[in-house]
Amino acid sequence: MSSLPLHPPVLSPKYQPFMKPFYITTAIDYTNAPPHIGHAYEKVLADVMARFQRLQGRQVYFLTGVDQHGQKVQKSADAAGLSPQAFVDGITAHFTSLWDKLNVRYDGWAATTDPRHKRVVQAMLQKLHDCGQLYKKSYSGHYSVRQEQFLTDKERGPDGNFGEEWGEVVEIEEENWYFKLSDHVEWLQNYIRSHPDFITPAFRTADVLNALDSSGGQDLCISRPAERLSWGIPLPFDERFVNYVWFDALTNYISFAGYLADECGNEGLPHFADLWPADAEIIGKDILVPAHAIYWMTMLHALGFTDEQMPRLIVHGWWNIKGAKMSKSLGNVVDPNSLADKLTPDGLRYYLMRDIATGYDSDFNDERILMSYNKELAGGLGNLLNRSINMAQKYRSGLLVPGDYDDSENSALRQTVADALPVYSESMNTWAIHDGIAAAWKIVTHANAYVDSTKPFSLAKDPSQAARLDSVLYHLAEAWVHLSVLLDPIIPTAMATARAQLGWEMPSGFVLNDLKWGMLQSGHQLNTPIPLFPRLETSAE
Ligand code: ME8
Ligand code: MG
Repeated sequence: MSSLPLHPPVLSPKYQPFMKPFYITTAIDYTNAPPHIGHAYEKVLADVMARFQRLQGRQVYFLTGVDQHGQKVQKSADAAGLSPQAFVDGITAHFTSLWDKLNVRYDGWAATTDPRHKRVVQAMLQKLHDCGQLYKKSYSGHYSVRQEQFLTDKERGPDGNFGEEWGEVVEIEEENWYFKLSDHVEWLQNYIRSHPDFITPAFRTADVLNALDSSGGQDLCISRPAERLSWGIPLPFDERFVNYVWFDALTNYISFAGYLADECGNEGLPHFADLWPADAEIIGKDILVPAHAIYWMTMLHALGFTDEQMPRLIVHGWWNIKGAKMSKSLGNVVDPNSLADKLTPDGLRYYLMRDIATGYDSDFNDERILMSYNKELAGGLGNLLNRSINMAQKYRSGLLVPGDYDDSENSALRQTVADALPVYSESMNTWAIHDGIAAAWKIVTHANAYVDSTKPFSLAKDPSQAARLDSVLYHLAEAWVHLSVLLDPIIPTAMATARAQLGWEMPSGFVLNDLKWGMLQSGHQLNTPIPLFPRLETSAE
């Protein structure tokens, strides 16, 4: 799959040219099954941050992709009677079409079967081999023939034996290649202690240090014999072995950012020095320890990356389903596609961002998602736009004239709008997207209450209140212009539609800092209102 063109950056003079682009990545998703709600959450989180950074005037490069190698895929492909490549291509299409549907707008696509990636993985392994960071060792242990994996004491049942599920268990001896991870543990411990902003949220740092204290810093087995694992990248210095998982998967963050591009003859990738280090590698809590915080960091260190060249990790929590872990065997896997069809893509994006605090787990709930759509998007946000424009059309043919009438209700609404901006910015910049939404929602709540208390329908009946009515209609439209900017990273399609109804576009090069009261000029003409989020029927009604 070819990489997508870089979206044209919006640059404010404030941020360039001294600041490098904001380089944001996500985990690459396994392609042994179609995407679930957890995958959708992570991609939307990354997309919201990418859009928010662009809105701040920062250039952004957003990389995401798919993890296509490995034993799981090899097995699933066999079961489906397909070649591994045909199998992963089919599953990958489910991911790319979902990202299109959800408006997840990435700049680079990391598919690990891309030949450019394979060349970088091999070049990197060769470098580590050349400087003595890899060695071969034989290992003997209990091996499950059915599951094709070595078993440890953890897999023994209470009676001390390996259970039925493992089938025939034999003792075998096997040679493999190892990475001298332990050489870098002391450096890593010091790095973590001296870089409190390495992991967001910071409380997860303790898990990493604890793991390093209790044998988490042992050398890492990086291969499987080719006869056991064929669907992977062969070791360049010993072709009887295939790379096993992490040197392939983790490397995507640098290979697709242009690392060793010249040496490998790779084209169509960014210039590495412009992007690296990653400002945000967004991952779920399950792959922090040991993969990202220990394997990845020590790999980079072994390759000669300096402290200043280390990525930052953003670790999100998990969506559970009614308190239980989502799993195929429980049959509770939530399909983001059907939800996006039902709630609109923005309806799903909104729920995934508003009902979880970044870093913590949340519970996915069918009733809550419908309720958040109907009450908050349809009833709160959408209704505010609809009635604001409707009244302006009915009483003033959509023509706005702020005039010079003012009162304390007006100034209170302006104050709420002004107060929302710094809270929103600070929250979004610190990954508290749900707080950013809540900051914007103060405007929604206040503006809806303002309609109820100013009663434009009564003002319209009294000619002596004409100036006040003008000011009310103007305040509502102006408050909505602010909302259409603040909520743009979260629900971009609906906000573009809202701006079209308001007859206002973000001027080219517009950044968040440009947002001030008075975006709409006197004599501004509003367009026709169309419900943004039509109410959905619920089974309870
Ligand atoms: O782990 N809620 O792939 P993956 C929230 N290929 N996030 C979830 C989730 C849930 N219920 N379930 C999974 C892999 N995720 C590897 C990553 S990175 C170099 C290689 C998140 O498809 C999970 O935490 O199992 C991870 O960040 C991402 O989805 C992909 O998971
Ligand atoms: Mg996983």
